[in-house]
Amino acid sequence: MAFLSDALERVKPSATIAMSSRARELAGEGRDIISLSAGEPDFDTPAHIREAAKAAIDAGHTRYTAVDGIPELKRAICDKFARENGLSYTPAEVTVGTGGKQVLYNALMATLNPGDEVVIPAPYWVSYPDMVLLAGGTPVPVECPMEQDYKLSPQQLEAAITPRTKWLILNSPSNPSGACYTVDELKALGEVLLRHDHVWIMTDDIYEHLTFDGLPFATIAAVEPGLKDRTLTVNGVSKAYAMTGWRIGYGAGPAALIKAMGTLQSQSTSNPCSIAQYAALAALTGPQDYIEESRAVFQRRRDLVVSGLNQCAGITCPTPQGAFYVYPSIAGLIGKTSAKGTSITDDEAFASALLDETGVAVVFGAAFGLGPAFRISYATSDAQLTDAVARIRAFCGGCA
Ligand SMILES: Cc1ncc(COP(=O)(O)O)c(C=O)c1O
Repeated sequence: MAFLSDALERVKPSATIAMSSRARELAGEGRDIISLSAGEPDFDTPAHIREAAKAAIDAGHTRYTAVDGIPELKRAICDKFARENGLSYTPAEVTVGTGGKQVLYNALMATLNPGDEVVIPAPYWVSYPDMVLLAGGTPVPVECPMEQDYKLSPQQLEAAITPRTKWLILNSPSNPSGACYTVDELKALGEVLLRHDHVWIMTDDIYEHLTFDGLPFATIAAVEPGLKDRTLTVNGVSKAYAMTGWRIGYGAGPAALIKAMGTLQSQSTSNPCSIAQYAALAALTGPQDYIEESRAVFQRRRDLVVSGLNQCAGITCPTPQGAFYVYPSIAGLIGKTSAKGTSITDDEAFASALLDETGVAVVFGAAFGLGPAFRISYATSDAQLTDAVARIRAFCGGCA
């Protein structure tokens, strides 16, 4: 009898975490490594949020809380949805978890039965298909190549839906491509979804505040109110307020789904950290200056990276309008050999040769379901980015 469960046999460890660990290992050996693989802002959590956490400890907010969030935080989340997204939710329609990741996981675990399908546009965040597999469902990736700006078209959605489709996962701005859906694009997807009332929509809006060039953020339950009663809108404080380590995410949707997710959470992790919940409350209700400041920095870094990468032989890098990633194609390098003799057979070979030969850690496209490409997280200093781009240019220039 196998010791590990069949469910665990189906999933693989996160490629992004594996790449970050390998980069850390090489740095530990004394190599000069630039890691562009981690998906987190490189800023400190704003001071007023850190202070709120200290005050929460001193005020004795150190005990178990309501399983899916303290009432004050749920109220603040309702206010946030009303203020920023024009979405009206009651606290019974809101759940708070240990990161957006747990909220997404809870929803899939609470709803999927064997054979249920989940449509996932590719390139996708690495965790979606594996979470679906863990929950016993079947991921249905739909390739959305660079030529269509890495976005799902209404025709592709229509073709992917079957009687077994339970969820469509949308993620805009996207990790890994940075692609953002406009209001019109969401409307067009919404028209398809209105015709298939058995399909629910899980929208992962974690990068909401990182859109560039004045592009307004849009989310499907607001764009197509007819879908609100089968949409779970997921968000969190990790990326918006540089709070990745605090582990607070939230979701809003129909009360019956939210209740089921809370039941699951009550029998697994219970409440998210009490202190972090008070910190998240301060993030959502306090000054919002950090959001605009970080957005401006990320937009400048995006421009630096995109223009540098487009000067590298064999690389084509579109200009994304959100998040802090770029997702360049390396189609022009496949079949070549690096200066040190590695055959670039696919994007995994490219990423591994790039790390070994130049010390730059990126994540290969196959991990996100669409290659040949790679992902750079530009949530690091301008100096590191400039150095990394120069190393990538030298690497590509040496490929023949
Ligand atoms: C697309 C996407 N969704 C969700 C998450 C999870 O964020 P957290 O669990 O920190 O809230 C991440 C983190 O990298 C992400 O990139």
